Amino acid sequence: MASDVEIAAMRRALELASRGPRSRNPQVGSVLLSPAGDVIADGWHHGAGTPHAEIDALSRLPRGAARGATAVVSLEPCNHTGRTGPCAVALIEAGVARVVYALADPGQHSGGGAERLRAAGIEVEGGVLEGEARELLDPWLTSRALGRPHVTVKWAQSLDGRAAAADGTSKWITGSTARADVHRRRAESDAIVVGSGTLLADDPALTARDGDALFPHQPVPVIIGSAPVPEGALVNRHPHAPLVYPTRDLAAVLDDLYDRGLHRVFVEGGPTLASAFVAAGLADRVLAYVAPTLLGGPRAALGDIGVPTISAQRRLDIEAIERLGSDLLIVARPPSESESH
Ligand SMILES: NC(=O)c1ccc[n+]([C@@H]2O[C@H](COP(=O)([O-])OP(=O)(O)OC[C@H]3O[C@@H](n4cnc5c(N)ncnc54)[C@H](OP(=O)(O)O)[C@@H]3O)[C@@H](O)[C@H]2O)c1
Repeated sequence: MASDVEIAAMRRALELASRGPRSRNPQVGSVLLSPAGDVIADGWHHGAGTPHAEIDALSRLPRGAARGATAVVSLEPCNHTGRTGPCAVALIEAGVARVVYALADPGQHSGGGAERLRAAGIEVEGGVLEGEARELLDPWLTSRALGRPHVTVKWAQSLDGRAAAADGTSKWITGSTARADVHRRRAESDAIVVGSGTLLADDPALTARDGDALFPHQPVPVIIGSAPVPEGALVNRHPHAPLVYPTRDLAAVLDDLYDRGLHRVFVEGGPTLASAFVAAGLADRVLAYVAPTLLGGPRAALGDIGVPTISAQRRLDIEAIERLGSDLLIVARPPSESESH
């Protein structure tokens, strides 16, 4: 059983983890506690090729100062020699007495750290605040398990489920708070995807903006469809050159994005492309921004998603509901394999 002090340290480790870059590598945080339960060091993973969280924390202490300590880590210490040595070995050599972690490392090569620690006589406790850690690392876990990017499909809709008015105009269905939330989430993504229909209809900049300024991290803009990007399109002024895929093969696009290290993909529509992602079972998370307005007409948020009859409906689990100004955000995801029937 983890103590209250260890659980509080795990909360801190998760907060530290979230400071790390979101990309190819997991975000991990670590806190070292003295035998009396005081925090003696902490650290987090700063990105590929840099020390893992445990090593970052250990490096803040003089040699020998971690003897008898408890290491609290948001991901099971790795057992793998990559660009850095195995963290399990570093903890053993540092003389820690106990290791508390949140989430087991699913990696084929990196897992097994807990066993290695136990074999060295260290007390190990896993699963502490596992749900929180899983939520933080969900995109990383998905892309790692499936070998393709984690895909979030987002749309804004009227209360009656329309994404645009009958003439195709759709700016702005939701209010400024909801739009600010979208920009914050764009900044947490590696790539932002639209169909060529939206490119031509809306001329989106596809940047992540904090008011008038750009967020420091900008997703790479991606356009799928055969229509060429007009010369004067705003997306051509994006800090990253747009990636244009004149295809309808979404799996191939995702493969290429994955190979480029773009593992968090944010699909912003329009309805045709969003429907294609859902129909192909490639939407790992859905964000529906719902505005208290009615548009009627034919322009539904989703079109054909391969549901000819009610028994084929795509039921989702609600992950969160947030109120954003006068709008609602509903975050939902397909049930995991073990829960679906
Ligand atoms: N409310 C919202 O959240 C929201 C968001 C974005 C856009 N919108 C609105 O949506 C409208 C544009 O949406 P849209 O549905 O016309 O266009 P869209 O979804 O942006 O783009 C459709 C195009 O995507 C390409 N595509 C790539 N892969 C595909 C696949 N697997 N299946 C089908 N098409 C694929 C096709 O291009 P090719 O034909 O060249 O193959 C298709 O014509 C505008 O009115 C815009 O304002 C609303």
